[in-house]
Amino acid sequence: MSDRIRNERFRSKVMSAADAAALVENGWNIGFSGFTGAGYPKAFPGALAERITAAHEKGEEFRVGVWTGASTAPELDGALAATGGVAYRQPYQSDPAMRTAINKGDSYYTDIHLSHVGNQVTQGFLGKLNLAVIEATAITTYGEIVPSSSVGMNRTYVDQADKVIIEVNSWQSEDLYGMHDIYYPIGALPPSRVPLPITAPGDRIGGKTMLVDPEKVVAVIATDAADRNTPFKPLDDDSRAIAGYFLDFLADEVKHGRLPENLLPLQSGVGNIANAVLAGLLEGPFENLTSYTEVIQDGMVDLLDSGKLLVASATAFSLSPEAAHKMNENAADYTKKIILRPQDVSNHPEPIRRMGVIACNGMIEADIYGNVNSTHIMGSRMQNGIGGSGDFTRNGFFSAFVTPSTAKGGAISAITPMVSHVDHTEHDVDLIITEQGLADLRGLAPRQRAQAIIENCAHPDYKEPLREYVKLAATKANGQHTPHDLSSALSWHVRFLETGSMK
Ligand code: COA
Repeated sequence: MSDRIRNERFRSKVMSAADAAALVENGWNIGFSGFTGAGYPKAFPGALAERITAAHEKGEEFRVGVWTGASTAPELDGALAATGGVAYRQPYQSDPAMRTAINKGDSYYTDIHLSHVGNQVTQGFLGKLNLAVIEATAITTYGEIVPSSSVGMNRTYVDQADKVIIEVNSWQSEDLYGMHDIYYPIGALPPSRVPLPITAPGDRIGGKTMLVDPEKVVAVIATDAADRNTPFKPLDDDSRAIAGYFLDFLADEVKHGRLPENLLPLQSGVGNIANAVLAGLLEGPFENLTSYTEVIQDGMVDLLDSGKLLVASATAFSLSPEAAHKMNENAADYTKKIILRPQDVSNHPEPIRRMGVIACNGMIEADIYGNVNSTHIMGSRMQNGIGGSGDFTRNGFFSAFVTPSTAKGGAISAITPMVSHVDHTEHDVDLIITEQGLADLRGLAPRQRAQAIIENCAHPDYKEPLREYVKLAATKANGQHTPHDLSSALSWHVRFLETGSMK
């Protein structure tokens, strides 16, 4: 490890995860590294979970706030949630145990746009940050941190926390050095904030390492464990169909002169369908593509390998085990084409709007007017969180949402009269795509939007009931601008909750 911890001052602070966890006090807020299962600390969270459990067994109160970049892994979210000791969580998660704690009301959760987290922490809106626990690839001779497979919130948490613990993980390739671009002035508060100088996805505007005040570093832990790398599901007919509609749409935009031949920088959301769109691009006609996105999935790496994608800017990897292995083996080469930035730069509205990013994200449901629910099952149950979808959707050149037209074996329609929770309003949503087809909502009035969405996107089983709803709504108070029958607008969700089916 001494070749990874190259500064003597930091080497003198090496200790076990259990000793480091013993430094934590009840009630602390802890800012962890980690984004979509990449770059989270591997040893400290488990040791902290043991400490919390031991305190609970003695009848002592011990609860902490867990702040991250985004989702982590069972070793972090899962282990801490299982203790019942997570008082508060922000800004995004996808762990089953943490989801249960949040939905039971045991852990309070704030679902924050990922580009806003840095501002909110720096402005002090979320309270005091007692500790940052950050995974690193190495610590340089000058005592700087070389981040690992995600950057996420690391810079802000290291800056803002009273104390810092660094996990140096030798599983992560040392050749990741140079892939990161750590920009600092963004931490400045208004009115001192300056423009973000990114005009192309490949622009580098910061340093390769993160700075840390050595006085704040209370422990360094050596680890050697892999990221949670989840395999992507094999492409199915639905995801191929959705990808196909989107790629045809892009080709048509090029034909009509509304997009350049190499498109505009692409953003691709989390999950299998987003990955399928990337796989479609691999077979499609577009060359010299660029990407300004949040996570690098397998599909993005394949596009880079093919030469069709020239450069990808993101904040983290979200790779299968095979792709993660390939990344570790060839990190030095990928460093020339991949830039990992803090999430308030990767998701910043300013370059997204300036460069005209094409946004494409998954959703839970959309309504007939194009409002989108990305987060809440049946209006109440938190699934994951809004993540970066709002950052890209509101500010993109145009914004697409993709989903199969039904869920739970056809018992749920993803197109409903009214969404049970709104994350993205009709004002921000340009395209809805299901395996049935694509609705282009640009420039359409609500009644036109309803027709486009029902006829192009709804599953055949639900088309007629949706048409009937539209007819009924048009009779209520003469329909008005956005016709709704408020007494039945959410009846499909109620029916599902009562009978197990929207039919
Ligand atoms: N009503 C009720 N449940 C639904 C549903 C609907 N309309 N649509 C899907 N579901 C259920 C699925 O059945 C599944 O349930 P299960 O876990 O019990 O099997 C669950 O929701 C997840 O669905 P799945 O199809 O596996 O989702 P996905 O992997 O395609 O992800 C989102 C979809 C919306 C959850 C995901 O895209 C997300 O978290 N988005 C928000 C964050 C984001 O967009 N980040 C990217 C920014 S870069």
